[in-house]
Amino acid sequence: MPAFPTVPIRGPEVWAALEDMAWGPDNVRKWSTLALLAIMGTALTAATDPGFVAMISQKGLDFACQQGMVVLQEELQTINVPDFSGVFKIKHLGKGSYEFYSMAVNGFHIPNPEMKLQPTDSLQLSIKEASIKISGKWKTKKNFLKASGNFDLSVEGVSIFADLTLGSDPTGHITITCSNCDSHIDSVHIEISGSMLGWLIRLFHRKIETSLKNIIYKKICKIVRNSVSSKLQPYVKTLPVVARVDDVTSIDYSLVAPMITTNQFLKGQLKGQFFWRGHRGPSPIDPPEMKFVPSNDYMLCMAISDYFFNTAVFAYQESGTLKISLGNRLDTRFKLNTDFLKPFLPKVAKMFPSMGVQLLITAPSTPHLSIQPSGLSLNPKLETQAFVVLPNATLVPLFLLGMKTNASLDVDAEENRLIGEMKLGRLLLELKRSNFGSFKVKLLEDVINYLIPTMVLPKINERLRRGFPLPLPAGIQVINFVFYSYQEFPVA
Ligand SMILES: *[C@@H]1O[C@H](CO)[C@@H](O)[C@H](O)[C@H]1NC(C)=O
Ligand SMILES: *[C@@H]1O[C@H](CO)[C@@H](O)[C@H](O)[C@H]1NC(C)=O
Repeated sequence: MPAFPTVPIRGPEVWAALEDMAWGPDNVRKWSTLALLAIMGTALTAATDPGFVAMISQKGLDFACQQGMVVLQEELQTINVPDFSGVFKIKHLGKGSYEFYSMAVNGFHIPNPEMKLQPTDSLQLSIKEASIKISGKWKTKKNFLKASGNFDLSVEGVSIFADLTLGSDPTGHITITCSNCDSHIDSVHIEISGSMLGWLIRLFHRKIETSLKNIIYKKICKIVRNSVSSKLQPYVKTLPVVARVDDVTSIDYSLVAPMITTNQFLKGQLKGQFFWRGHRGPSPIDPPEMKFVPSNDYMLCMAISDYFFNTAVFAYQESGTLKISLGNRLDTRFKLNTDFLKPFLPKVAKMFPSMGVQLLITAPSTPHLSIQPSGLSLNPKLETQAFVVLPNATLVPLFLLGMKTNASLDVDAEENRLIGEMKLGRLLLELKRSNFGSFKVKLLEDVINYLIPTMVLPKINERLRRGFPLPLPAGIQVINFVFYSYQEFPVA
């Protein structure tokens, strides 16, 4: 794992960083190398602290700029230069008229676009030394003489400076507007071809060039402003504010504060809170304060606090979906019936011979995830209620077990989703209640430690592998992912 020069001031956090990009076979823009830093803080919290912070570095802006330029270039190619006409007057020859028409942009070359961070909430797009090639037709009339031909126009030294100001709208979406645009054209050269009278027009090339330069100059910023409002803004809006996870939960990725620029990053502070779609009440969990110095070796760094994970657990818990029932038909290798109770509850085995047993596993208190140097860990306290299933399907409660274990969660990303894999430590049992007398619960430990990892854990991991949406705009996928976990640092 590469060294990650991050200094979390308060607590471990989950970090994500994206490095380098590549085009996928499907032309999907891909940001690779997502590193994730887990931050857990218990100190100072405020309702407005984010649970999820995304920071785009200059490297990321360069990538975004390249992508955006493909679109802007296409838009600039559509510059529509209107037909243009004029009259000329030459001593002894008298008056004549000319017209330029059917002008089309053949190329808009942008050699070195740059996107720079500007304090405190904007980006500056700068384009220098761009050039435009335009071709068209001309015709001229002088008394009874008529002539026509083609021309090529090259517009050189085009520079564009546009300020893009970031903000948010009341729904928590990021907004981006072109607050200022300036353009400049160094020179325009016209090349007239065609025989008769072409020389005549050539005499007026300076006047024609100046007029065309003014026409084009006025169009450039109009196109830039329009591209920002009709292309960039809708694209930025594809960033989910509420990302649906599944039927049960969604994630609130709304901005908790306006987007800001630091001298190295564009920073978005998002709520990063899971909620139960069935009923969204106030969360009993407070987001910790997240303080860290991210690395600009990556395109994008995402810092995720334990708040994100714990609101997830809470939302599933609140919805009542954090439970699982094991019956006798689950596994062919292991028959879950009263026979297995014989060694420690012979009375039950005798009363309900060879009847099915059902285990209902629940989490009576919301498991708490914490971020450790080794990754995410939790110490869930679970309960298992065992029942006998009578032939008429009535459940007879047998006993209630308390179960303690340690678990870890490995986090990864796939495409635009955060995925995970859980590992479970050994389960320790405690008999909490028995309707058929006390027994040595140790005798059950091996069975439970076989059943849970083989029956329950795969179901949890199947769900974790399906993943949870990350706040990425449309068409962005993660192809590499680096996870960093940070330990709590003493508060200075
Ligand atoms: C199911 O069977 C048990 C035992 O035979 C009986 O006590 C109980 O009333 C039955 N329940 C139903 C719903 O039929
Ligand atoms: C559970 O704890 C034990 C002892 O500290 C440790 O060796 C093991 O790796 C842990 N397992 C998980 C899945 O966290």
